[in-house]
Amino acid sequence: MKTTLLTGATSGIGLEAAITLAKEGHRVVMVGRDEAKTRQCVADVKQRSGSANVDSLPCDFTSQASIRALAQAYRAKYDRLDVLVNNAGSVFNERGLTTDGIENTFAVNHLGYFLLTNLLLDLVIKSAPARIVLVASTGHYRGTMDLTDLGFEKGGYSIMGAYGRSKLGNVLMTRALARRLEGKGVTVNALHPGVVATNIWGGAPGWAQPILAALKALFMITPAQGSKTITFLATAPEVEGQSGLYFEKNKVKTPSALARDEALGEQLWRKSAELVGL
Ligand SMILES: NC(=O)c1ccc[n+]([C@@H]2O[C@H](COP(=O)([O-])OP(=O)(O)OC[C@H]3O[C@@H](n4cnc5c(N)ncnc54)[C@H](OP(=O)(O)O)[C@@H]3O)[C@@H](O)[C@H]2O)c1
Repeated sequence: MKTTLLTGATSGIGLEAAITLAKEGHRVVMVGRDEAKTRQCVADVKQRSGSANVDSLPCDFTSQASIRALAQAYRAKYDRLDVLVNNAGSVFNERGLTTDGIENTFAVNHLGYFLLTNLLLDLVIKSAPARIVLVASTGHYRGTMDLTDLGFEKGGYSIMGAYGRSKLGNVLMTRALARRLEGKGVTVNALHPGVVATNIWGGAPGWAQPILAALKALFMITPAQGSKTITFLATAPEVEGQSGLYFEKNKVKTPSALARDEALGEQLWRKSAELVGL
């Protein structure tokens, strides 16, 4: 039985992906930050998938200690990791710092993926053929990267600027990791799920909420539809052996020029390793 660890599994596209993967026979380990909500989501996934092989582990991705505890708890319980889905993500209206002193968006959306993946990488390699999936965003096309001011300390913070940077980080990380995983039987790919009606929009400013409600009703796809590229990359035989790519609607798409900058990817990798103490 394949074992999948899925972050951000308590809402939106992560919750729907958990249901599909459980239906497809994976043992699914759902990561959540709120104990009661996570318990409820596990029960929901069990019920909607008809599978009993659904479990959970806690983590708050604003804390590196919590991410380390997650990796440790996972290792204590499971001896393989066939699919790692990095999906937990958020937006922050105001600039703020985590307890580790890192800008919230970059910490959760990029360093969260980076630290968890690196802490579990040997287990993924041991489980080969295995897959790593990073939920990025089309927002990465607007992302910029300033390695001397990753957290917008010198100014210029905006909700979408910070989000775009974190998602550009996801695509750069995907490509840098793929280079490191060559020949190891593990693939890593990034994706944009579509514009999906989920709770993530609740983080946008109050004035934007009525507009977002209208957009949700008129144009956004459902979380179940949005989860399809996750499950495609996690399971589809068509993508076996494909790595270091960026997907939208189950198709490879060329990411931004910055995302394709190999030197920048390596610089970000080193900086990220430094920021998480690896
Ligand atoms: N919705 C879109 O249109 C869209 C477009 C492009 C990319 N994405 C990406 O898709 C991914 C999933 O987002 P979604 O749209 O499904 O949004 P969502 O419904 O808000 O789900 C986000 C998930 O991440 C979890 N999460 C957020 N911050 C966390 C933290 N500090 N620690 C632990 N878990 C945390 C949430 O936990 P709680 O349940 O506790 O809140 C939830 O399970 C994100 O990476 C997002 O950037 C979404």
